Amino acid sequence: MRAALMAASRRDGVRRVVEHAPVSRRVVKRFVPGSSVDDAVRATRELVDAGLWVSLDYLGEDITEVAQAKATAAAYLTLLDELAAAGLAAKAEVSVKLSAIGQALDRSLAVDNAREICAAAQSAGTTVTLDAEDHTTTDGTLDVLRELRTDFPSVGGVLQAYLRRTEADCRDLAGAGSRIRLCKGAYDEPESVAYKRRAEVDASYVRCLRALLEGDGYPMIATHDPAMVSAATDIIDENRRPADGYEFQMLYGIRPDEQQRLAREGRIMRVYIPYGDEWYGYLVRRLAERPANVKFFLRSLASRR
Ligand code: FDA
Repeated sequence: MRAALMAASRRDGVRRVVEHAPVSRRVVKRFVPGSSVDDAVRATRELVDAGLWVSLDYLGEDITEVAQAKATAAAYLTLLDELAAAGLAAKAEVSVKLSAIGQALDRSLAVDNAREICAAAQSAGTTVTLDAEDHTTTDGTLDVLRELRTDFPSVGGVLQAYLRRTEADCRDLAGAGSRIRLCKGAYDEPESVAYKRRAEVDASYVRCLRALLEGDGYPMIATHDPAMVSAATDIIDENRRPADGYEFQMLYGIRPDEQQRLAREGRIMRVYIPYGDEWYGYLVRRLAERPANVKFFLRSLASRR
């Protein structure tokens, strides 16, 4: 299902239909609160007022021109200014995809842009997490993470439990001061590098949780899966992790009641808010990981309301 949807999504015709179907905006709104920085700050305010923390992602990935990479970096600088001005920076960090700031064009362009974003985050009183993308970028992204952390030690990274290498990466990155988000992984990866069966991915996720939660770093547990949330709380209890020694993370619009429940238990619950016009790749990954999301989308297309 995931592979078929991802393959279809890469066809230009499919992309045009989805991007321009009148209902798309309404469906997208469930996952993306808006296009502008004002929309992002408004959504952040609502969640922070409700007791949640936030990570903001300015949508746009796989850019092909230097000007786009610079524009994306500039959008993050504006966002960080606005978060600071609104008094929200203490509870809102930013998530950055290196491919959106030039990784595929020129490594040093991406590193310079990332440094600028990290410096702006530091002056705003918050930090940055580098998202994980497809497996061909894993080594490069972890390398940039290590480089950035020498000047900005709070910069975080993301590891994807579906990759066979990730348990070892978790052990490497479980040291003091290391902020690591653990997710299952959202790309269509070959069997040579990734577990393909759900049970294998889940088992790997639990092994990775253990490696991170038994280490000295700051694990960020990103999942909507009740079984993974429950495994995490067990390991947290076993290791007597203090409430400020880890956090849960979920995506905007997904399981909001569960987000509230975890926050009410006194845990840090951070919601990942994507915003901007470039929502297509993000929406496709959300549809691919859950058949119910595809049904919801198709029903909306059919009803055209
Ligand atoms: P999975 O999709 O396996 O679902 C398991 C169960 O969770 C379902 O059976 C259901 O019970 C419940 N569930 C899931 N979705 C639901 C819904 N919409 N409504 C109700 N129940 C639902 N990926 C990546 O490759 N790089 C990255 O940098 C990131 N970053 C990231 C940040 C954050 C904060 C999150 C939460 C996720 C990511 N991801 C990511 C995406 C991640 O890799 C993964 O694709 C999705 O989170 C889906 O995996 P789950 O662990 O949520 O469970």
